[in-house]
Amino acid sequence: MSEQNKREVLRIEGLVKQYPGVRALKGVDISFSSGEVHGLVGENGAGKSTLIKILAGIVKADEGTFLFDGTPAAITSSKDASKHGLCFIHQELNLVNYFNAMENIFLGHRYPHRYGPLVDWKKLRNQAQEILDVLGIELPLEIPVLHLSAVQRAMVAIARAFAVKGSIYFMDEPATALTDIEKEKLFDVIQSLKNQGKTVVYVTHNLDDILRITDRVTVMRDGLVVKRSNTSEMTKDSLISAMIGKSLESAFPSRIGAIGKPLFTVEHLSNSRLKDISFTVHSGEILGIGGLVGSGRTELLETLFGVRSLGSGAMLLEGKPYHPSSPKNAIEQGVVLVPEERRKGGLVLSRSINENITLMSLSEVSRFGILKHSYLRQQAKEAGKSVHLKASQYTQHVATLSGGNQQKVVFAKTIMKMPKVLMLDEPSKGVDVGARFEIYSIIRDLAAKGAAILVVSSDFNEVLGLADRILFIKEGAMASVQPNKEIDQERYLHYCYGRTNA
Ligand SMILES: Nc1ncnc2c1ncn2[C@@H]1O[C@H](COP(=O)(O)OP(=O)(O)OP(=O)(O)O)[C@@H](O)[C@H]1O
Ligand SMILES: [Mg+2]
Repeated sequence: MSEQNKREVLRIEGLVKQYPGVRALKGVDISFSSGEVHGLVGENGAGKSTLIKILAGIVKADEGTFLFDGTPAAITSSKDASKHGLCFIHQELNLVNYFNAMENIFLGHRYPHRYGPLVDWKKLRNQAQEILDVLGIELPLEIPVLHLSAVQRAMVAIARAFAVKGSIYFMDEPATALTDIEKEKLFDVIQSLKNQGKTVVYVTHNLDDILRITDRVTVMRDGLVVKRSNTSEMTKDSLISAMIGKSLESAFPSRIGAIGKPLFTVEHLSNSRLKDISFTVHSGEILGIGGLVGSGRTELLETLFGVRSLGSGAMLLEGKPYHPSSPKNAIEQGVVLVPEERRKGGLVLSRSINENITLMSLSEVSRFGILKHSYLRQQAKEAGKSVHLKASQYTQHVATLSGGNQQKVVFAKTIMKMPKVLMLDEPSKGVDVGARFEIYSIIRDLAAKGAAILVVSSDFNEVLGLADRILFIKEGAMASVQPNKEIDQERYLHYCYGRTNA
């Protein structure tokens, strides 16, 4: 679409939202054009999702005007939003767990009927399949989404956004749970929407993606727009400076402390997903786990954490046999996993920050008897502070935190009880650049205090930036173990594909 044909499809002026204790939006002006992919970035808690939820009619704004093609209109419900052709992929997906994919995709729409009130399931199925075909994805349509994997659940939410013909598509971190292949498919769809003259508003902390797929970018900080620019005029560094208000000297904190004695050993581990894996992690060491998506990295962490059965082989923790019967049992022995899907695995959304952070250490803290409550609060506060948790009060329910800040609660909770072995699956997904550095510093710090750390990440810069050694896994088996020192991106990929002399 040529520049002249672009028109302003939505202009928002003076948008204000006050939550109890937080002014999430302080007068935001932003506009979107037809035929553009518009990036929306900003630190955790900057107000991106709040803006989107207001447009979706989920949250009510206190002040502000909306102009659709120049005409003022109000949005007070999700009906208003769809009337104006607004479609959404929300950060929290908002799926109904006990409904199947088909029902979730068409939630809130009129189902096709035949013979009066009888839903025409066959037609519904075909319609769902059509959407999936466009997206190039396969999904089981008829089992409750509760039983689907993270990737599949994300795909359901994406398909739902395409169930109506819209004109502006808001995508709030749509790709965090996707593999690279699926992300590329999503990007193809975004490109084709753009070519049809539609608008895509794309929210993510992945700045490489922003630079790659967006035409314009708006940066928010603390409830305000601080920068608007053509993407071609921005770099990763200039985006970061705009987001955090200062430049970041280095992406990774340097190593502190020395590597000590062997702390955790895995010998000939095999089960349904893993084949003969053996390695040792030392006290103070960070072991990166490299491999392609689906290579078995998450399964390895889950096995070490007692989620999956051990099969054959043995594990030693501080020289003693370690055989976790459950995650709870693993935690009792000092082995902790920060899962990839943190909202599902690590948080009780309807409880306060205080309660969530201290959940794991309750038994330990109760020894303090009467001191318990204030001690707990104090501990929670310190842990929260160390991850730069942004919250008005620690009595706030975790559900009311921004997506990234919810993740920080999981980290705070993990470091409350000094783990012996800390395993992290995709530690920085959905976390802003500033907080990412904090999280890396915490990882380094725990290593310096003697923990053994295992990190899985699909961002190989993250693995290269943190790890002392890297264990490469291919199809559930060990491809090789390499010291980090001389690995560059190209070699990294070679090792992932199982070539040992890269
Ligand atoms: N229901 C709520 N009650 C109270 N405060 C809230 C509620 N929802 C959001 N907030 C606060 O509003 C602010 C903006 O949150 P928002 O979710 O819009 O941030 P975000 O930019 O989407 O961040 P992230 O990148 O982490 O997703 C945060 O301080 C958050 O804690
Ligand atoms: Mg958000």
